[in-house]
Amino acid sequence: MTFLELLFLLFISYYFIYVTFWIVLDCNLGLWYKTHFGLPVSAMRGQVVWVTGASSGIGRALALELAKHGVRLAVSARRAALLESLKKDCLERSNGFLSDRDVLVLPMDMLKVSNHEYYFESVLSHFGRLDVLVNNAGRSQRANWEEISVQVDRDLFELDVFSVVNLSRIVARYFLQQAGGHGHIAVTSSIAGFCPVPFSATYCAAKAAINAYLNTLRLEQRNIDVTTFCPGPVATEFLAEAFTSEPEQKYGQSTEHQKRMTAERCGQLFAASIVNKLDLAWCGLFPVNFLAYASRYPGLANIIFKILGKNTMNKIREGKL
Ligand SMILES: NC(=O)c1ccc[n+]([C@@H]2O[C@H](COP(=O)([O-])OP(=O)(O)OC[C@H]3O[C@@H](n4cnc5c(N)ncnc54)[C@H](OP(=O)(O)O)[C@@H]3O)[C@@H](O)[C@H]2O)c1
Repeated sequence: MTFLELLFLLFISYYFIYVTFWIVLDCNLGLWYKTHFGLPVSAMRGQVVWVTGASSGIGRALALELAKHGVRLAVSARRAALLESLKKDCLERSNGFLSDRDVLVLPMDMLKVSNHEYYFESVLSHFGRLDVLVNNAGRSQRANWEEISVQVDRDLFELDVFSVVNLSRIVARYFLQQAGGHGHIAVTSSIAGFCPVPFSATYCAAKAAINAYLNTLRLEQRNIDVTTFCPGPVATEFLAEAFTSEPEQKYGQSTEHQKRMTAERCGQLFAASIVNKLDLAWCGLFPVNFLAYASRYPGLANIIFKILGKNTMNKIREGKL
């Protein structure tokens, strides 16, 4: 075998193995590696993490995963009763690492941005510090592109983008001015932020926007770690709460009987991304993980998306394939 043939064989083998990972794993390779060989979540024991949107779904699962390893928590959302029950579950799961004072229930509406400073001060006065902000609160969308009211575009961006940016700026200023210039901001973005999915135009745009905002922060402030965590379909209350094309409407459907990652698994992968300070991580069952990888190669992605078409793409995201 000539040297060139050997090189070609190695090249083909590399891509064969690499693409196999796209198919068999439920997250990107870097994250999978860190879950096995990276820092364990317990390395964050004693740190203070503020999770928004913690009353259900991914935020709740993440909070429980962090609590299990003794991470102190501020948990926020609008439904205070669910946060109180989360606190109880966190204390139970913490194997004695956490006591009552270590989990702060902080009911808050993300849309009331003028109150963000007050909420942040509440976290600081309770714990005396904040190590990680996890911007998780958000809502999705199901609507035909041409029917979306511009008011829905605005409402969705208010929640999924502007409220996240405002809270992150307050916390970034604290990291820079009072915490020695160091800190960590994470966001629950979505694979939809870099891979177009049908019937969610505003949502895709909002997640792409938040990715862009945080990419710039990462570039400007090298001592602030930024984790953009992008799940694919996860079994949560997400669809019931999703925006439609009309203001004030909710999609109102359940994710039951759809093939989706569990919120628990998503919470574990999110926690691993945070403790290992990954810049970008994503997760999703096959073929979502495959499509997420393919989206990193625009030429390949365009061919695949054209072949699949909007209906097949929608079946994939609804877990019907
Ligand atoms: N599930 C998926 O398939 C999926 C996929 C990719 C990305 N994501 C992202 O994951 C994040 C969490 O979604 P999820 O799937 O876990 O859905 P979820 O179960 O509906 O959770 C959404 C959370 O956001 C909170 N929230 C909504 N509006 C709020 C507001 N105005 N102020 C404060 N909190 C608010 C909700 O709490 P209250 O109602 O109590 O306020 C809830 O805790 C979102 O950012 C979403 O974009 C989800």
